[in-house]
Amino acid sequence: MKIAIGADHGGFDHKEVIFKHLKDLGFDVVDFGTYDTNSVDYNDFAMKVSEAVSSGEFNRGILICGTGIGMSVMANKVHGVRAALVHDLFTAEATRLHNDTNVLTMGGRVISIELAIKIVDIWIKTEFSNEERHIRRINKINNYKGE
Ligand code: RB5
Repeated sequence: MKIAIGADHGGFDHKEVIFKHLKDLGFDVVDFGTYDTNSVDYNDFAMKVSEAVSSGEFNRGILICGTGIGMSVMANKVHGVRAALVHDLFTAEATRLHNDTNVLTMGGRVISIELAIKIVDIWIKTEFSNEERHIRRINKINNYKGE
């Protein structure tokens, strides 16, 4: 599995640890930045990671900002991306089973690095349920044409 990861200054510390964690587990992970704690716009990193997933080059994306909200809003603008803002273990699993999300966003100022790692592990390992009702609902997302 190829995983793209990115963060702004609010998620930098979490991103560094999660990147190393995934590397240690043997995943093919690419770090799209940011590479220090200087203030940057979360939008730029959300787009880089989301477009890498949308293009098919990467299977999943992980984005961390201060709250996870800006990353989530921005990532969901990208065609083919279903991004979930997750801060607990229940929704980490549920969003894979029900929504087949391909981007995970979290807030570095909201949850500890230890919890973020547990969320990443569950979100990465959980397969989509493939149940008809969930496929139908995802198709409704994919088929929606905004004005
Ligand atoms: C940056 O201060 C902060 O606004 C950003 O990390 C994120 O929380 C936005 O949603």
